[in-house]
Amino acid sequence: MSRFTSAASELAEQGWTIINDFLSSQAVFALFNEAQQLWDTGHYKNAGIGRGSEYTVREDVRNDHIFWLNEQTPTDAQVRYWEVIEQLQLELNRELFLSLDSFEAHYAVYPPGAFYLKHTDRFTDSDERLISSTLYLNPDWDIKYGGQLRLYTAEECVDVLPMAGTCVLFRSDIFFHEVRPATQLRFSLTGWFRRRSLRVI
Ligand code: OGA
Ligand code: MN
Repeated sequence: MSRFTSAASELAEQGWTIINDFLSSQAVFALFNEAQQLWDTGHYKNAGIGRGSEYTVREDVRNDHIFWLNEQTPTDAQVRYWEVIEQLQLELNRELFLSLDSFEAHYAVYPPGAFYLKHTDRFTDSDERLISSTLYLNPDWDIKYGGQLRLYTAEECVDVLPMAGTCVLFRSDIFFHEVRPATQLRFSLTGWFRRRSLRVI
């Protein structure tokens, strides 16, 4: 048993799960400060959709801003995050018989009013992304601020509040989801567990 065994089995059974206290509150706060500092110093770019030559900024679909992390050069604030992601990846491989072998992640900022319309996280030309993961960073998020992640599960919608330390995991290929507009700056760290895809030869 590891601390992620029950989350991994829930993910296997229902395709999504929520982990509270994914990191210590100090570790989440360090990420929050870093995300905020990068925002204050203009380091984010407008998020787009699609990948490679297909990449386009579509502010009618999403109008958040992102900053990609570099796993090779983690900052002090990121070290613990990458360690825990590694533990989670091992547990997902073990429990779900997956072959996840890499992870890509970016900070995202949604200014007041920003949104991301209903979508899935799988690109049409790539099946590498298997599991989506979002860790929320805002301390003291109030339900009246909005900004929920709305996950369209089989039976109903599940609304996840973007509160510091909450991490939501779901299958990238099948779950439609959207980010509802908020009245406050909303900070998160989103990433995808990937497998190597079979190339056409
Ligand atoms: C995404 C996304 C969810 C969130 O970046 O693809 O759906 O709650 N993010 O920030
Ligand atoms: Mn998404």
